[in-house]
Amino acid sequence: MENLDLPPKIVTSAKRAGLKTLASVLCLSKPDLERATNLNSHEVSILVQAVSEAAYQTPIITVLDIKHGKCHTSMIVQKLSLGCPRLDAFLHGGILSQGITEIAGESASGKTQICIQLCLTVQCPKALGGLDGGAVYICTEDAFPSKRLHQMIQMFNEKIGSEMASKLKLGDHIYVEHISEMDQLWHCITQRIPILLTRGLVKLVVIDSLAAIFRCEYDSHEIAQRAKHIQSVGAKLNWLSSQYDVPVVCVNQVTANMKRSSNPFEPSVVPALGLTWATFVKVRLMISRTNYRLNVDSQGSEECRPGLNPTESVVRSMEVVFSPHLPKDKCYFIVEQSGVIGLA
Ligand SMILES: Nc1ncnc2c1ncn2[C@@H]1O[C@H](COP(=O)(O)OP(=O)(O)OP(=O)(O)O)[C@@H](O)[C@H]1O
Ligand SMILES: [Mg+2]
Repeated sequence: MENLDLPPKIVTSAKRAGLKTLASVLCLSKPDLERATNLNSHEVSILVQAVSEAAYQTPIITVLDIKHGKCHTSMIVQKLSLGCPRLDAFLHGGILSQGITEIAGESASGKTQICIQLCLTVQCPKALGGLDGGAVYICTEDAFPSKRLHQMIQMFNEKIGSEMASKLKLGDHIYVEHISEMDQLWHCITQRIPILLTRGLVKLVVIDSLAAIFRCEYDSHEIAQRAKHIQSVGAKLNWLSSQYDVPVVCVNQVTANMKRSSNPFEPSVVPALGLTWATFVKVRLMISRTNYRLNVDSQGSEECRPGLNPTESVVRSMEVVFSPHLPKDKCYFIVEQSGVIGLA
C-alpha cells in the first residue's frame, strides 16, 4: 500500500481503517470502504483504481503480440492435433489444451476412434502437433480396445518413420483405467491422475464415457445427488486441465431430443447429461454417421454417394455445437484402418 501513488489523506485514512494490503481493499465494496475510511465516494474510487492497477500483474497481450511471438508461451493456449491436417484445419489447430472438449454422438459414430487417435498424437513433439506426453484413458463402458490401438499404432508408426517410432514407443505411454462407479471415478481424478500429471507423464485425459456412469448408477429419487456429482466431476476436470495445462476429452452419449415433437427442425438427438454437465464443457463436438459412403474409383478420385456398399467407408460428420473460438460449422470424415481421416 505504501508504494501506491495516492494523496496522503487517502493513504492515512486507509491505514487508520486497517487496510494494509491490496487484498483487504479489493475484498470490500465501495460503500463498505467509504464507511471504514470515512473517505467520500470520489476518494474511494481513486483508492480502488490505484489498488486494482497495482494488483493486476498479468500484462495485457494483443493478437499482434501473439503473432510476433512477443508474449510468454504459457499465455498461449496450445492445441492438440487430431493427426489429420483437414480435421486440424476445421478445429483451427486441434483440441484446446485448456478446458473440457466433449465428443458426443450415437453408438458407432467414431467417438472412440477419435480418442485413440488423440492418445497417439499427444505423444508427438510439439512441432508435430503433439504435447510431448502420454495419455490417461478412462473406460467406463466396454473394455479398452487394445487390438484397435495396436493396429492404429502400427499405421501411425509407418507415418512418422521408424526412428521417431522407436523413440516415442507409442504403446508404452497410454495409462488405461476401467471404471464403473462414481466413487472409483472420483478417486481416479482426485488421487491417481494428479500423480501422473505432476510427474509430467501425462498430457491428455480421456473419459470414454461420462454418461455411462451417470446414466446407470442413479435411481430416479437420486436426481439431486447425481447433479451434485456431475458438478463435482466437471469442476475437478476443469481444474485439472487448467492446473496442468492439459486437454480433457470427454465422450458423451446422446439422448432423444424432446423438443423435436414440437419442432421438426430440431436435431433428433442431443448430448446426454443435460445443462448440468453442458456448463462445464468448453467445446462440444457432435459426430454422426451419414447415409453416404466414400467411393474411390480406379483413377483415385473420391466421391461421396448414398449407399450401403460394405467395402466403402461410411462418411461421418463432425459438427461444432458450441465453442469459444470456432464457428458453428460441420466437416466430414471417415474411419479407416489407419484411423480418422477428414474429407475435403
Ligand atoms: N479397423 C477399422 N477399419 C475401419 N473402420 C473401423 C475400424 N475399426 C473401427 N472402425 C469403424 O469405427 C466404428 C466404431 O467406432 P467407435 O468405436 O469409435 O464408435 P463409438 O462412437 O465409440 O461407439 P460407442 O458409443 O458404441 O462406443 C465402426 O462402426 C467401424 O465402422
Ligand atoms: Mg466407444
